[in-house]
Amino acid sequence: MSNYHIKHLEEYWQVYRKSLRNPEVFWEEIAEEHFLWRKRWDTVLDWDFSKPEVKWYEGAELNITENCIDRHLTTRADKTAILFEPNDPTAIAEHITYRQLHERVCKFANVLKDQGVQKGDRVCIYLPMIPELAISVLACARIGAIHSVVFAGFSATALATRINDCDCKIVLTSDGSYRGNKTIDLKGIVDEALTSCPGIEKVLVAKRTNTDISMKSGRDQWLQPLLDAASKECEATIMKAEDPLFILYTSGSTGKPKGMVHTTGGYMIYTAYTFKNIFQYRENDVYWCTADIGWITGHSYIVYGPLANGATTVLFEGVPSYPDFGRFWEIVQKHKITQFYTAPTAIRALAKENLDFVEKYDLSSLKVLGTVGEPINEEAWHWYNENIGKRKSPIVDTWWQTETGGIMIAPIPFATPTIPTYATLPLPGIQPTLMNEQGEELKNNQQEGRLCIKFPWPSMARTIWGNHERYRETYFSTYKNMYFTGDGAFRDAVGYYRITGRVDDVIIVSGHNLGTAPIEDAINEHPAVAESAIVGYPHDIKGNALYGYITLKETGESRDQDNLRKEINQLITERIGPIAKLNKIQFTNGLPKTRSGKIMRRILRKIAEKDTSNLGDISTLLNPEVVKGIIENTF
Ligand code: WTA
Repeated sequence: MSNYHIKHLEEYWQVYRKSLRNPEVFWEEIAEEHFLWRKRWDTVLDWDFSKPEVKWYEGAELNITENCIDRHLTTRADKTAILFEPNDPTAIAEHITYRQLHERVCKFANVLKDQGVQKGDRVCIYLPMIPELAISVLACARIGAIHSVVFAGFSATALATRINDCDCKIVLTSDGSYRGNKTIDLKGIVDEALTSCPGIEKVLVAKRTNTDISMKSGRDQWLQPLLDAASKECEATIMKAEDPLFILYTSGSTGKPKGMVHTTGGYMIYTAYTFKNIFQYRENDVYWCTADIGWITGHSYIVYGPLANGATTVLFEGVPSYPDFGRFWEIVQKHKITQFYTAPTAIRALAKENLDFVEKYDLSSLKVLGTVGEPINEEAWHWYNENIGKRKSPIVDTWWQTETGGIMIAPIPFATPTIPTYATLPLPGIQPTLMNEQGEELKNNQQEGRLCIKFPWPSMARTIWGNHERYRETYFSTYKNMYFTGDGAFRDAVGYYRITGRVDDVIIVSGHNLGTAPIEDAINEHPAVAESAIVGYPHDIKGNALYGYITLKETGESRDQDNLRKEINQLITERIGPIAKLNKIQFTNGLPKTRSGKIMRRILRKIAEKDTSNLGDISTLLNPEVVKGIIENTF
């Protein structure tokens, strides 16, 4: 039996049970046998969910880049580590070997050091999906700087908030970025953001689009000449297992985004372990995850997990629809992709297109298909299974979160039988449970409840940057001694989990988590707006779309409502980004409220879903009459 590489269902159960019986021995063996440490740990695990405080491998020392790069140089130096597929399908793909990756990461790390970046400093990375993104992430890790990658689709305001929240002193960006047939002025967005970021001393700019940009003297420098001049050797800084590796922001249901802090040792172990098992990675496979490194999926399953296993990981700059809807499948054929990991929203979008886009290509290299980010609906699952997997590649529906760092519930391909819409079984070391609203644990199967985790796992986020109390309150205060995920789930008769969706005010649109409060805050900034409430409603491709109910200060018919809608969406784009734009905006005379003044989103959600037959008792509302008006004017 191998703890590290599970191949059959029976083995899964044995390993799973072992991980429950003695979690510390389990995680100790894995850490010992498969990773490179500079110093061994004193204790495997120390935890207290009431504080909450979790420490894995305390006393141990390591550098994650030695595990992801250096240790492969003896056996895999000339193997492709990163396979870069540019936006332009006629451009040549770039194979970066482990040896070259080592050199480029070292050079980049030396540049950062020359710019005054030290261990523990926060580095903001705002780059498109080009090799410099992965390389700069690893360069930070090389010298113990904490990277904070901000998805390069976020607006200047969102970028500034994230830069200021963790006091970054340097930004890494590019002149522009390509997305399909569009060119985006990334540096312009950075310039705008930096007007409100006094802490930023330096900006390093990679050249990608060769567009004209302005460079502020004393602050901005082109990256390439600095890299050219840098030494290709950079000794790895020795880190403690619990030293922070990175911060990644995720939307909460209220307030500003939460900077989730992940630490080094446990994160490395868990992402590597799950990568190996969930994708059944073998030495000559070519693995492709289509996510952006700006999200946790990219951190864990484009960069760290694959590289820690010496894998070849594809980095794709473009979009699924350019030059046409066959792009993904063209890439699968071209690079003989063996594992393909994407989001349900992408699958739904591609399933709408003509099957010719799929059938033109040879997809026979595929062995495992994955999905992540939101529940996958049955129709999309079958389309994926039949047309992409040809019914021979298992679909791993992987449930996890930015906060969990790695995949928590998912089938192990060729071991766990899959069922559409079920994430199936917890991975070794993961102890999920369901709770009811009264705080009782639902011990029997065939029940639906709120998904919690009872025991720590190595890659869990340790805190929210600068706000440990918010971390405690958000995840550990709802149920005693449990991590609360914010998701609902159903557990079937055999113990398989099916994730039913968020139970809080987070809405997942095209796989992106959006908190309702920040969007409402943006809307309320419009001078004509009195009040607003956002809810999600089902959408064929995005999974959910946003429906905004907005009350104006003056209900004058005179206002051009279409224009107002445009202005409101423009404001949201500026404050958060285009992903948070509202699909529908309904102007209302009021919002349904409880007597204590709380907006009844449950009712608004039902109306948006066009399910008005059972709104429950609305007579207890402060203003039941507004509900009728809203229903009458619904889209
Ligand atoms: C949702 C993404 C159903 C869930 C890795 C979770 C899923 C949130 C699945 C985290 C899945 C993710 N089935 N729902 N397979 N995967 N989710 O932080 O609501 O961007 O809480 O992390 O996405 O999103 P995040």
